Amino acid sequence: MTVKVARRFLRRERRPLISDGLEGVIAARTVLSDVDGAKGRLVIRGYAVEDLAGRARYEDAAHLLFDGFFEDAPSDLAPALGAARVRAFGEVAALDEGLARRDAVEAMRALLARLPDGDDLPTALLLVAAPAVFTPAVLRVAKGESPVAPDPALSHAADVLRMTRGTPATDAEAAALDAYLVTVCDHGLNASTFAARVVASTRAGLTSAVLAGLSALKGPLHGGAPGPVIEMLDAIGTPANARPWLERALARGDRLMGFGHRIYRVRDPRADALKTAVRKLASASSALPGRLAFAEAVETAALQILREHKPDRPLDTNVEFYTALLLEALGLPPSSFTCVFAMGRVAGWLAHAREQLAGGRLIRPQSVYVGPEARAAA
Ligand code: SDX
Repeated sequence: MTVKVARRFLRRERRPLISDGLEGVIAARTVLSDVDGAKGRLVIRGYAVEDLAGRARYEDAAHLLFDGFFEDAPSDLAPALGAARVRAFGEVAALDEGLARRDAVEAMRALLARLPDGDDLPTALLLVAAPAVFTPAVLRVAKGESPVAPDPALSHAADVLRMTRGTPATDAEAAALDAYLVTVCDHGLNASTFAARVVASTRAGLTSAVLAGLSALKGPLHGGAPGPVIEMLDAIGTPANARPWLERALARGDRLMGFGHRIYRVRDPRADALKTAVRKLASASSALPGRLAFAEAVETAALQILREHKPDRPLDTNVEFYTALLLEALGLPPSSFTCVFAMGRVAGWLAHAREQLAGGRLIRPQSVYVGPEARAAA
């Protein structure tokens, strides 16, 4: 059956036409977040993301997402999350240099896969702690350095930076990482969250759901984009080279990392939330103001060229562009950016998994067969 015949078949059967990439398909009801692509608004459990970023700690955002889905969640998750980081660190002994030198997401995923499945709050907190503990360990062991054990008394963000560097972070640096983790903690039914919900819908368990989300996040069309943003900025080098470099990239058919979005038809509200966090860091840095000004020049050129290149498709800055600048300013290597994205998004994956278990059914869409007609085996 050809696709044309299939479409006629679907129309006759009054079934919805196939939506490539499920674009425009509503697959769940959620109380967790609302992504308004037309207005460029993101609301997380009733709060605009720009009101949470820079004010709430990541522990507060995780509690906001967990509220109602884990009945025994304490009002302040910080102590329990600190204890969970210590528990997660027990798995780091399994990390050897060979594994640490793999792609950082793959190495972190291998450690995370050692955690047992479960559906309770201790399992969820261990899964929130895991990327935060495993990523610093992977980065240090890959350099031949010993992992640094967590300090449960610190905030989640401050401890991540301390475990990564081996020295305490400043309050401004911890606040900047908190702003990032909160900004990316949840975002509707993006690919990785949808993957987590599909696995949760089979009742496989929270660890399995998080592993599915992490694997989907790894792709450059999704959470794998911020690292390549740094590569793009470094390849462009100077503001004068922005337009020629970007035009050559588009002429090759490349996607400009950090731009475009399946839902947003205007600027992603998280871009400015993160730019604000970068500006705050820049006030205490000598190099960052220049790097920020250069990135803004590249962004301006990219938006102009994308408008010329795709006049019918609004392509604006997404969350990844200023993510790259912020994480670079915190001294995190581009190879770790997707792992750090997972550190923030994991609370969203877990809350969506619980929401799917609470009211959803097994997620099982259909497909239309366009292969060869049934025939007798030779
Ligand atoms: C995230 O869904 C979410 O919520 C994701 C996320 C979250 O918080 O979970 O917001 C996080 O994943 C942000 C996106 C990070 N990825 C990138 O920055 C990679 C670059 N962006 C693109 O690959 C793209 O914009 C996507 C993947 C993000 C969205 O792609 P769509 O919705 O599938 O759109 P499409 O691929 O159908 O593109 C439509 C047209 C195409 O032109 P034609 O092939 O029709 O001629 O727009 C073009 C594309 O070529 N286009 C781009 C572009 N993005 C789309 N052209 C150049 N550069 C780009 N960035």
